Amino acid sequence: MFSFGVMASGGGSNFKALLEKVQDGSLRAKCAFLIVNNGDCGAVQIAKEFGVPTFHISGKTHPEQLEYEEALLGVLSNHPVDLLLLAGYMKKIPDSLIQALPERILNIHPALLPKYGGKGFWGMNVHRAVIENHEKQSGPTVHLVTSEIDKGRILAQTPVPVLEGDSPEELAARILQQEHRLYWKTILDYAKTLKLIP
Ligand code: GRF
Repeated sequence: MFSFGVMASGGGSNFKALLEKVQDGSLRAKCAFLIVNNGDCGAVQIAKEFGVPTFHISGKTHPEQLEYEEALLGVLSNHPVDLLLLAGYMKKIPDSLIQALPERILNIHPALLPKYGGKGFWGMNVHRAVIENHEKQSGPTVHLVTSEIDKGRILAQTPVPVLEGDSPEELAARILQQEHRLYWKTILDYAKTLKLIP
């Protein structure tokens, strides 16, 4: 059994998929907390349903960058975790957090990195660019988080076909389904590699 925390900003479907795998025993882990930078996001409601403690830490609650970083580190020291999982977290992770958990922060990105990653490649922008460039395939990537956005070591990917006439929304939905299958399995494999579980 290992523990993880999650950071999210949006609907939280990846967060929910992880909690379901914890609940059915496939992911032998405990979710210690959720951090959001948007108190109204869907992930907060999901955390409530699953009884996960939630912390809202943002530029609103902590206008000074140093205070913001201290608040994040404070959650980690009160709720120590083996892994920190980004699930649609829309803010750059501060270096102080990356240094506190070296090689222990994972992210899921909705394209086949190293393509379509980095600054500006978030949300529908990613899928729009993939379609405009007539890519034949796209799909989710799980990778380690470093100080360079979307550049950390790739742990796993799932190719997903881009279909003729796909809208960005249709492609996003097809990829999201695969995200839900890929993330928990990759987390489990990575936890084994780190010897957090046998
Ligand atoms: C996903 O597409 C993920 O790849 C990206 O943000 C989105 C989050 O979706 N990083 P959800 O909030 O988990 O539904």
